[in-house]
Amino acid sequence: MTTGVKAQILKYDGLRVPRYTSYPTAPHFEPVSGQEQYEDWLAALDQDSALSLYIHVPFCPRMCHYCGCHTKVTRRYAPVEDYIHLLMREAAILARHINKSQKLAHIHFGGGSPTMIRADDFSRLIQTFRTLFTFDEQAEIAIEIDPRQLTEGRVAAYARSGVNRASLGVQDFDQKVMCAVNRAQPFHLSYDAVKMLRDYGINQINLDLMYGLPHQTLDSMRRSADYAALLQPDRIALFGYAHVPWMKKHMRLIDEEALPGSMVRYDMFEIAARELEQVHGYLPVGIDHFVKPGDTMALARQNGTLHRNFQGYTTDRCDALLGLGISSIGKLPQGFVQNSPDMPIYQDAILDSRLPVTKMKAVSAEDRLRAAVIERIMCDLAVDLGQTCITHGFTADYLDSDLTALEPFAADNIATVDFKARTVSIPMESRHAVRMICAAFDANLREAGTAKKHAAAI
Ligand SMILES: C[S@@+](CC[C@H](N)C(=O)[O-])C[C@H]1O[C@@H](n2cnc3c(N)ncnc32)[C@H](O)[C@@H]1O
Ligand code: SF4
Repeated sequence: MTTGVKAQILKYDGLRVPRYTSYPTAPHFEPVSGQEQYEDWLAALDQDSALSLYIHVPFCPRMCHYCGCHTKVTRRYAPVEDYIHLLMREAAILARHINKSQKLAHIHFGGGSPTMIRADDFSRLIQTFRTLFTFDEQAEIAIEIDPRQLTEGRVAAYARSGVNRASLGVQDFDQKVMCAVNRAQPFHLSYDAVKMLRDYGINQINLDLMYGLPHQTLDSMRRSADYAALLQPDRIALFGYAHVPWMKKHMRLIDEEALPGSMVRYDMFEIAARELEQVHGYLPVGIDHFVKPGDTMALARQNGTLHRNFQGYTTDRCDALLGLGISSIGKLPQGFVQNSPDMPIYQDAILDSRLPVTKMKAVSAEDRLRAAVIERIMCDLAVDLGQTCITHGFTADYLDSDLTALEPFAADNIATVDFKARTVSIPMESRHAVRMICAAFDANLREAGTAKKHAAAI
């Protein structure tokens, strides 16, 4: 029999909630027909704004069956090469709206697989950015790496280009699990990738693991956590597999019979977390990150400055996030901006010297308040609701009806809620329930039909 907090959390099995990498979440962005509003938002940025740049590379050599990212399989290099030219042109169009006194402090290459880009092309791309924008001397330049594609030439190009953080996709070290998701990746590939990066001075290493994949067991999870720790990454992300075959058709290739149920998923996360925290000395951050003591993310967690963006947890405190590439999302003080996810539409806009934005979402004062509450819960597992309301110009009781929605969680000891003081805190053993608690403050989730877009809460 399942007892304690785990049993209480499992009562909510079947609930679907967002990952809350933004609020409002992306399904609530609205179509726009032109770039004028985005141009106005860019023009209104302070002259000394710190900027963050996200570059999306939507290509992979083969499809991992679990993949929820926006990507397309291509075996040829020509589409990647063409896309790099489009990225350079897009950067030039964007740069017309950016002042040289606005510095890039964070640059992140994500995907898909940025490792698809050949060494020379990567160097050219960064060089183009350096001529178009001002880079902060201390800029963090991060790249998502598929260890299966890494070559010494590429690592050398990253190092020469100033890349100082690498995030490796590993997922699991068990070959049965990896073969079941079409991603054979023996341990030595990840080991060699980490060694090569460090040999070239790229020392800030993140590693992605997943739980809830087919054929994973509690034992295989523990072993994978141990193997991950053996590589001594600064940060480990342990993502719960979001199975949404109605949105991503290739997920139908996953044998659902081999997928662990919610109860086992809970145990898998707990077992890997315990191994990373108690055996290997990692500190938990948010709902799914583990970092070495002394890492900047551990410090941000301690002093309450941890943030969440579309890549997950981040120490990025820039004033604006600008996106390049198809489907990329930007965030400005006024709201969100998303590029077209459709290659022909994206390409037409660039060739026509237009910014390829097709969706936007201006945020209201109430959206900002709700975003702040959700971000603090996701990052700190706690929030002072009354204080957050006041800081955002509302009365302390403004979100009291949302707070009341937490009564069942409080009764089940999943969250500690002081209804009078208006504070919420979530104990570590309830990390699985954090997104459900955030959902209580999500005004958009109540709209009919949005819930089915999301993955299971547990
Ligand atoms: C863009 S990929 C990382 C870089 C590279 N493409 C790779 O796979 O090595 C981003 C990460 O998202 C996570 N991810 C992908 N699909 C997911 C899903 N359906 N549910 C949860 N996490 C997922 C994986 O951990 C993956 O490493
Ligand atoms: S997980 Fe990474 S490599 Fe696999 S298909 Fe998705 S983006 Fe590509």
